[in-house]
Amino acid sequence: MSSSWRPTRIRCRPRSACSRRSRKRSHLNRYPDGSGYYLRQALAKRHRVTAEHLILGNGSNDLIELVVRAFLRPGDEAVIPHPSFVVYPMIVQAAGGIRVVVTLKDQRLDLEAMARAITPLTKLVFIANPNNPTATIVTADEVEQLMARVPDRVIVVFDEAYVEFAQGPDFPDSLAYMQQGRKVIVLRTFSKAASLAGLRVGYAIGDPDCMGLLNRIRQPFNVNSLGQVGALAALADDSHILECLRMIEAGRHYLYDEFAAMGVRYTPSRANFILVDVGRNASDVFHWLLKEGVIVRPMTSFGMESYLRVTIGTPEENRRFVKALKKVLAGAKSA
Ligand SMILES: Cc1ncc(COP(=O)(O)O)c(C=O)c1O
Repeated sequence: MSSSWRPTRIRCRPRSACSRRSRKRSHLNRYPDGSGYYLRQALAKRHRVTAEHLILGNGSNDLIELVVRAFLRPGDEAVIPHPSFVVYPMIVQAAGGIRVVVTLKDQRLDLEAMARAITPLTKLVFIANPNNPTATIVTADEVEQLMARVPDRVIVVFDEAYVEFAQGPDFPDSLAYMQQGRKVIVLRTFSKAASLAGLRVGYAIGDPDCMGLLNRIRQPFNVNSLGQVGALAALADDSHILECLRMIEAGRHYLYDEFAAMGVRYTPSRANFILVDVGRNASDVFHWLLKEGVIVRPMTSFGMESYLRVTIGTPEENRRFVKALKKVLAGAKSA
């Protein structure tokens, strides 16, 4: 183990080498392949890394938890954007870490302020890119400036759950920092563009020493057999992902047009959801929409009293949501 990746504690548990016997995944009476051999091989090919650069997780949530458990001791600091993915502060707090919360600026991660928030106690910096719930990105230039200011000992976690929706020349190549030997961990998931949220498969890409540490503290069968098969199938089916991206893009523009027609302000999205300002209490709107059979996420718990996060769905789901929102907002006006 390289001494430069310092875990909080290491629990040594021997990991058996991958088992080729488990290739027959139709046998659900058997335990899964604990090493995720075939999936890691396929991912390694896709990302042009070795299988040792990869670890699988029960969704990327699992990996966030592993990273925190591996690298954050009680009293250590993690720099976290706000509002952002709720799991970061939850897990950091559970580990006894200190959450150094940096508020977004104009609905985007404020990387300048995040760099300033780094102290000698900082172990982790979380960058959700695109960010949930704003669906905004930080650009390659902004990340470059951040990385120039992050000390070598600090681990930057790039959570790229929605990366497929955000691709463009301005999007940072976070893996390049890993190739340069920087301490970065990139998190990806099959839950979003691959549409396999129910199967719970995520993965981390990072330096093999770092991945080795995470590997030692994970549950031995943290990705189930169906999850492994489903993720492998998704990797072999780029056309499905492209179809999903096209559907989301069309849905995004349909919703933009409808919001504009309703006078509802929205934040331009680089993900598969949109943050909208409904101009009245978002919890009320959430409950009224629920009665219409539509579930959205009110942002009131983030202190964003009039904001909803709306997932872009199928054309039919989008139409149903728009119809319900029109009804609810009309009712609210006349009340
Ligand atoms: C920014 C972000 N990261 C990670 C996740 C976790 O995804 P999963 O555990 O399904 O891979 C989510 C889920 O919504 C998310 O929004």
